[in-house]
Amino acid sequence: RAPRTLAGLKFLVSAGPTFEDIDPVRFIGNRSSGRMGFAVAEAAAREGAQVTLVAGPVALATPAGVERIDVRSAREMRDAVLAQAPRHDVFVSAAAVGDFRPSAVAPQKLKKSGDGGLELALVQNPDILAEVAALPQRPFVVGFAAETENVEAYARAKLERKRLDMIAANRVGADCGFERDDNALLLLWPDGREELAQADKRELARALVARIAERRGAKDAA
Ligand code: PMT
Repeated sequence: RAPRTLAGLKFLVSAGPTFEDIDPVRFIGNRSSGRMGFAVAEAAAREGAQVTLVAGPVALATPAGVERIDVRSAREMRDAVLAQAPRHDVFVSAAAVGDFRPSAVAPQKLKKSGDGGLELALVQNPDILAEVAALPQRPFVVGFAAETENVEAYARAKLERKRLDMIAANRVGADCGFERDDNALLLLWPDGREELAQADKRELARALVARIAERRGAKDAA
């Protein structure tokens, strides 16, 4: 077997959706299955990295050798990620973090009242990725961008606005990105790009992790 290229490095990976509770039985979630992020954790561990995986609510087995922290909401994910980030060399944010949560969680199940609708007041969740990128001692920070249109332009804007080292952009929709075994990624970094064609998420994760190791080395040398 080829030498393990990530020996000695600590990877922190987030994966899966967040669930934002409305009342004791309902929540706002999204279609992330966690497969992309779990594949990144697995690929990094196979290359010898020490991996911590912060997982939203998903039905996936923990990859071999990976330490897993389970969370439910965006705020729980933020607390776990920020507690871990300073002692990691790389942070890969593959989680589909809910941008909004109900402004209050109803203590009892909400009841229908007549034929009327229901208005939910939402407030913004913290941006975990931007907070990690703003840490004084920050790891090498890799975001994802899930876009339904203008993939490259929107992803590059996120790379710049959040001051990331790299971003992995994917098109998402009813028939791509989420909940599938395959995906396609466009990797962007401040002065470059690389397209990773449609493939199994585990294969893409191996290519992504290899590129991260390379770019991180280039940044250190600069
Ligand atoms: O889980 P799968 O079913 O395998 O699907 C994989 C995936 C489509 C979920 C994955 O490949 C992906 O794109 N993950 C990121 C989803 C997302 O939230 O993208 P975004 O463009 O909304 O967010 C941009 C970046 O900011 C992401 O790295 C996200 O983790 C991060 N973020 C977003 C909002 C927030 N409040 N905090 C964050 O940290």
